[in-house]
Amino acid sequence: MNIYLIGYMGSGKSSVGRRLAKALEYDFIDFDDYIEEKEQAAISEIFEKKGEIYFRKKETLYLKELTDSNLSNKVVATGGGTPCYGSNIDFILSDNIISIYLNTSVQELTKRLWNERSKRPLISNQESIEVLEDFVRKHLFERGFYYNQASKTFKTDGKSTDKIAKEIVATLF
Ligand code: S3P
Repeated sequence: MNIYLIGYMGSGKSSVGRRLAKALEYDFIDFDDYIEEKEQAAISEIFEKKGEIYFRKKETLYLKELTDSNLSNKVVATGGGTPCYGSNIDFILSDNIISIYLNTSVQELTKRLWNERSKRPLISNQESIEVLEDFVRKHLFERGFYYNQASKTFKTDGKSTDKIAKEIVATLF
């Protein structure tokens, strides 16, 4: 069995994924790192030099490659946009994958993302926290259509990484 975590930037997919993999004794794959390794470039550099369309094409290609590779006992933290382009959601909803949506509120996401915005090409130009909050609200609403197709959803506000991972483990067995 494999677990794919989906959700907006800043929802904790990587930190929860790492903790979850440890608890389950599964391997952990951070899909952004996977793309960076394949492309030999940072995500921000790919966006800057080649543009978002190029990134989305590669994201789909590598998701297909990863998901077709007879995966077993893996926890994969996807990128925030991964389920929302092409037919990526169909790969994530494959039979050998449990898809989990980490559902974080707009307010919590905005707080977390404001300090980290320079690393994230889609939000690096937001000029104030209020503008960022409006952007996140609209963007999350659009992406909700994909995120809400996950087989399980966990609310994350006010919970530690450890608590979320424990809650997930408790529903798996
Ligand atoms: C993106 C999220 C990022 C990364 C890229 C695009 C998105 O991943 O894949 O910057 O479209 O939401 P994280 O969710 O890990 O920040």
